[in-house]
Amino acid sequence: KRVAILISGGGSNMLRLVEDMTGDHPARPVLVASNDPQAAGLGRAASLGIATAAVDHRDFPRDRAGFEAALLQPLLAARPDIICLAGFMRILTPDFVQRFAGRMLNIHPSLLPKYPGLNTHARAIAAGDAQAGATVHQVTSDLDSGPILGQARVPVHPDDTVQTLAARVLVQEHRLYPAVLRRFAAGDRTPVLL
Ligand code: GRF
Repeated sequence: KRVAILISGGGSNMLRLVEDMTGDHPARPVLVASNDPQAAGLGRAASLGIATAAVDHRDFPRDRAGFEAALLQPLLAARPDIICLAGFMRILTPDFVQRFAGRMLNIHPSLLPKYPGLNTHARAIAAGDAQAGATVHQVTSDLDSGPILGQARVPVHPDDTVQTLAARVLVQEHRLYPAVLRRFAAGDRTPVLL
């Protein structure tokens, strides 16, 4: 299976996915693309010999469709079977999502359905939640709400800050996403629960 990964920043989740796609893994990375040409993850992917592409969303002010049309060029050229959003911070239109229906994954740093959207760690701390975590789900046109493919839980400590909780969750993201992609690429939809 051919996997394209979309990032917006450092790409730590992308790196773990790439590092796991070796040996008997049913998938291989074919492209890493970003909405930010300065995304540090692009350089990290290139240094691993993976093709990269960048389309600056700021070149398409108030033109989401135009940005996506530009992004689709390198994306479709890579002939991906699966798209992984990994720290990708742009909302995709229903048209774009529909194009990859059933084969686009996203990792979100909360225990969905709790806390879709942004500032998930601050919201979990403010709510006094005992647990937080990350979710990998299939992307649908409703933000952060497609079928859940995996979750990882962490405890929330009383003295947690957004930073300390985010760091604890990120460690689990790095375990969860590769495990989910392995199953998904093998055609197994059994949720991964860590
Ligand atoms: C992190 O906050 C992570 O929780 C979320 O996206 C952000 C950046 O991730 N998934 P990455 O290091 O770019 O993969």
